[in-house]
Amino acid sequence: MKKFLINGGKPLTGTITVSGAKNSAVALIPAAILCDEPTTIYNVPNISDKNALIDILQTLNVEVKDTNCLKINAQKLKNRLINQELSTKLRASYYFMGALLGKKGEVKIAFPGGCNFGERKIDLHLKGFECLGAHVVLDNGIYHIKAKELKGANIYLDFASVGATINIMLAAVKAEGITKINNAAKEPEIVNVASFLNNMGAKISGAGTSTITIEGVKTLTQAIIEVIPDRIEAGTYLILGALIGKDLIIENIIEQHLTPLISKMQEIGINFERTEKGFKLTAKKNYKPINIKTLPYPGFPTDLAQPMTTLLTQCNGTSLIDETIYANRMGHIAALNQMNANIKIKGQTAIICGKTKLKPCNVKASDLRAGAALVLAALTAKGQSTIENIEYVLRGYSNIIEKLQNVGADIKIIETD
Ligand code: EPU
Repeated sequence: MKKFLINGGKPLTGTITVSGAKNSAVALIPAAILCDEPTTIYNVPNISDKNALIDILQTLNVEVKDTNCLKINAQKLKNRLINQELSTKLRASYYFMGALLGKKGEVKIAFPGGCNFGERKIDLHLKGFECLGAHVVLDNGIYHIKAKELKGANIYLDFASVGATINIMLAAVKAEGITKINNAAKEPEIVNVASFLNNMGAKISGAGTSTITIEGVKTLTQAIIEVIPDRIEAGTYLILGALIGKDLIIENIIEQHLTPLISKMQEIGINFERTEKGFKLTAKKNYKPINIKTLPYPGFPTDLAQPMTTLLTQCNGTSLIDETIYANRMGHIAALNQMNANIKIKGQTAIICGKTKLKPCNVKASDLRAGAALVLAALTAKGQSTIENIEYVLRGYSNIIEKLQNVGADIKIIETD
């Protein structure tokens, strides 16, 4: 079993460079198979979700070269079953639904995996495919989605789902006629995927707004794309700077993508000093408590609510985090309480009473961002902590050990029985 071994309490100084966005890369990689010619993706983060997607590509007989960029050639693609073992390694395996449907008119795939936040339905994805003319059958845990012909349609999403928006875009890009996705999600990752498809010759407009229009095209030609910087990774390290930074610089940031986090951190009393490519932060002693409500972009991201909880334990007074996206994203609370936080859960709200001095402890990550919250807490608490289930964290944080060691953190991975 792998664990993080962390000796916390040391101030961090130096520069952390943010990698490419996980949630962009995991959609861009499946999107590449829609292309009738080779594609190249730059700035792909070094995360285990990437490797899980490469395994799926190889199962589909897609050529992949993973060097300083990812070269994907799907000219010899074979439309094979994506079984449970491949599919459950990550959430984003579901993007092969839209991509294979768009490319081949048919896909057989098991239900996707990903972190467990209660029920994570994909009904909106399936509804979108059906609107485009596909027939969906669920048999023995395998979705068989097939269309004689995909035709553009007017689609309304009951909820602005990131996954459904991207998946429908992938399925519609070669459909005959015009597709409109109404109440589309507006996350920057969606814009990144639309740019990649447009670079191939797709005709997508409105990505980043709540109405996306897709005019179907017959062929998609070779293209390149660069993965945008990861706003959640950036946010996690900005929060770390507020906890134990000493002139800690976080660079490769798109500030506009982080507006809600930066505003809330300023409300707490944190100073952001602008540098050429990012921000410099130094931890302060007295922070004010705040209230946060997670919302779809451009609201406060649910993916940063867990790391933010760690910072709120260091504010003087009671802070609230109201989680509105997922039914159950409170897996980090019990572990933070083990580390001497004082947090109660009432319904969908975490009530954080601060300030409490975080203490080192042996804890377990329940999911990716819960793991990040615990890494931040363990780096803050003076003394030795261990964190189990680090596989979750390695799914989403590129080169986390190297990045943290470079700024002076005492963190390593140890193997135990
Ligand atoms: N939902 C439905 N039906 C659907 C789709 C979604 O009910 O068909 C519900 C979900 O159950 C959930 C909510 O809508 O309660 C949000 O789901 P959404 O589809 O927007 O999220 P997702 O595509 O499953 C992506 C990211 C998540 C991130 C969310 C919200 C990927 C691979 N995952 O998930 O990232 O939390 O958008 O921004 O892009 C993470 O990085 O830690 C992570 C969980």
